[in-house]
Amino acid sequence: MRSHYCGQLNETLVDQEVTLCGWVHRRRDHGGVIFLDMRDRDGIAQVVVDPDTPDAFAHADRARSEYVLRIRGRIRLRPEGTQNPGMPTGMIEVLAKEVEVLNTAATPPFQLDEHGKVGEEVRLKYRYIDLRRPEMIDKLRLRSRITHSVRAYLENEGFLDIETPVLTRATPEGARDYLVPSRTHEGHFFALPQSPQLFKQLLMVSGLDRYYQVAKCFRDEDLRADRQPEFTQIDIEASFIDEEAIMGITEGMIRQLFHDVLDVELPAFPRMTYAEAMRRYGSDKPDLRIPLELVDVDDLMKDVDFKVFSGPANADDGRVAALKVSGGAKLTRKEIDEYTRFVGIYGAKGLAWIKVNERAKGLEGLQSPIVKFMDGIVETLLDRVGAEDGDIIFFGADKARIVSEAIGALRVRLGEDLDLYTQAWAPLWVVDFPMFEDDGGARLQALHHPFTAPSCDVETLRNNPVEALSRAYDMVLNGTELGGGSIRIHDQAMQRAVLEVLGIGEDEANEKFGFLLEALKFGAPPHGGLAFGLDRLVMLMTGARTIREVIAFPKTQSAADLMTDAPGEVSAEQLKELNIRLRQKPKVATDEA
Ligand code: AMO
Ligand code: AMP
Repeated sequence: MRSHYCGQLNETLVDQEVTLCGWVHRRRDHGGVIFLDMRDRDGIAQVVVDPDTPDAFAHADRARSEYVLRIRGRIRLRPEGTQNPGMPTGMIEVLAKEVEVLNTAATPPFQLDEHGKVGEEVRLKYRYIDLRRPEMIDKLRLRSRITHSVRAYLENEGFLDIETPVLTRATPEGARDYLVPSRTHEGHFFALPQSPQLFKQLLMVSGLDRYYQVAKCFRDEDLRADRQPEFTQIDIEASFIDEEAIMGITEGMIRQLFHDVLDVELPAFPRMTYAEAMRRYGSDKPDLRIPLELVDVDDLMKDVDFKVFSGPANADDGRVAALKVSGGAKLTRKEIDEYTRFVGIYGAKGLAWIKVNERAKGLEGLQSPIVKFMDGIVETLLDRVGAEDGDIIFFGADKARIVSEAIGALRVRLGEDLDLYTQAWAPLWVVDFPMFEDDGGARLQALHHPFTAPSCDVETLRNNPVEALSRAYDMVLNGTELGGGSIRIHDQAMQRAVLEVLGIGEDEANEKFGFLLEALKFGAPPHGGLAFGLDRLVMLMTGARTIREVIAFPKTQSAADLMTDAPGEVSAEQLKELNIRLRQKPKVATDEA
């Protein structure tokens, strides 16, 4: 039906006849001449309809916002003074010969260029209209280019694209499962996969050697800006490789991707151990664009006359950390109060600070609610953090986990608020994660998943599980965990030992993933892999604020789809067929984005 997309038109086509199909972005009446801004997925072109062509004029006269038109006309240069160099098609216009109304449109719930005036709920309810916005189309186009680049790279490296089931059993990734009742097996349920983890390991046992998939994953967990209940992984697994090999391949993939799609050459990917990341940045996904670091001061605070500090300084699981912000002495009381409230979200009970007004004046030159307790150590403290006039130093004192999280989050917040970024892209690998985490419950938990190989032998693992490190690795970019993976256990004795440490008995293990444990007996090769969060990757590459912005039809914070009104109620008949009886009548759902 069309000869060109609107956005493709330019000066080189002057005097050519073109046929456009698209939507009326805007219609203006200028003293007997009608201007139509015609829009399609490639852009916007200006069409002029003259009364000299009465048929075309009559149709154009009837057209309204978002009507669907087909236009045949000739390209000409815009008259001097009416050109718009800010627009790709701004030097030309189309003089219409024929205008055909292919469809009318009801008044849209919002004007495309006024989407900011309506809430996100309205945009999500009418997502098909929201997606007409060039900005949204650009993001989806970039997403398509990203998967294209990734597929090309992996295919070239010998990876095979293999689909794994969506109706399956629970996957041990640690989130809650989405369950699907079975009609044919009364009282039984499928789980939607939290990841293709178990299947990709089975493919390695089968000898497929190198697998990838752009895979939908489902996790019923609390949502945030970078989490959706249904999201997409670039899932990868390979056999007869070690961590160097898999990290090399996937780093190459991301490097190639940034080159192909953004024309960006990423800097080197430093490696950092988990312990170092927590110590220096209070996070296992440090944003290395921000030049602030946590500095331990426990040793200085052991004897101060301030219990809030001396307590954690002397406790085994305590931490006292300082964060110096250059030029931060200009922060107001109100701003500091806001940061105090902010660290409270992470469990911090307060946020002590010292403003360094004039170091040369000693204690006099400092301003702080706590410096009175620090006589005798102040100079050492200021030297250690490298404080200069005009700086502020923040302090956290508590259990190590709380301090790291709270001051780590404050570091990121200050980076954003004060725009401290030193570079556009800061990738890194975080390695040497602990095998297990002690979350205070009766059992240790796997930090990654129970199939991750430790970097020690069976005996060392059994003797001191808490100290054991894993062969896991995460790729982090600008403070976001882009992907993570590990070398897997392919040895049965090791798998048994890990399950024992996790307190997962034989029955429970067989019930949950017996099929994998059994498969490992039949000649499993050494193997490992990794999965990237595609949505997060697209979010970072497009500069979007949330992953909702880069998913065509996302869910709200409360995991609902406002457009289809899912999840929805089902009929009594369907429930009966599935052998399900509800304990209560469903509540009326309320929702916000
Ligand atoms: P993991 O659980 O770390 O590992 O997930 C891999 C990557 O997927 C992304 N991701 C998410 N993105 C959006 N919404 C979510 N709810 C969400 N959850 C995770 C993140 C994360 O880094 N099977 C292992 C991988 C492996 O070992 O090979 C796994 O799923 O970017
Ligand atoms: P207070 O003695 O409670 O008035 O606290 C003095 C200063 O220490 C205030 O600035 C508090 O915000 C701060 N503070 C209190 N508890 C902590 C903590 N656990 N870590 C860091 N600073 C704290």
